[in-house]
Amino acid sequence: MRKLITAEQIQERVAQLASQINGDYSTEIVDVICILKGGMIFASDLIRRLNMHVRVHFIHVSSYGAQKQSLGTLSLHFSSPSELKDRHILLIEDILDTGITLEFLREHLKQEEPASLKSCVLLSKPARRRTNIEADYTGFEIEDHFVVGYGLDFNELYRNLPYVAVLEE
Ligand code: IMP
Ligand code: MG
Repeated sequence: MRKLITAEQIQERVAQLASQINGDYSTEIVDVICILKGGMIFASDLIRRLNMHVRVHFIHVSSYGAQKQSLGTLSLHFSSPSELKDRHILLIEDILDTGITLEFLREHLKQEEPASLKSCVLLSKPARRRTNIEADYTGFEIEDHFVVGYGLDFNELYRNLPYVAVLEE
């Protein structure tokens, strides 16, 4: 395992992202939707640095079928039924890879007619993109490596690492 982004670098970047978000929003309340499970650590650090009121929601996205990669056929499970019409939604995700998950979620959430819909991702692997989607806020762009830690897993392990590391075979 090779450390790629240290805990200190993550915290510094999370603080920068939060102040950018604080500056961009003039709304009183933001509805944060944390994408489970990977987004949980990033979301919990980020929202504690936001100035506005925050409602927190969780959404679990699972792909049908046995393949490990995103298939484009996804199902959604909301933590609680919530009225998102006219709300300012900020999606929080661990990593933007092919972009299929985020694109699917955005299309789904648009139907709820929110007042605004933005997304914030800790990591992005632009080399792997298969959609036109980009996040509004990106923590770090990384090369095409499989990474773990700070919420990201390999077979459900390593989510609790305070840093991001490349998993090497
Ligand atoms: P996408 O739909 O291809 O953008 O996939 C995004 C999801 O794939 C993320 O939410 C992660 O759960 C998972 N993923 C993609 N790359 C990695 C990685 O390097 N480590 C761990 N999970 C990853
Ligand atoms: Mg995930």
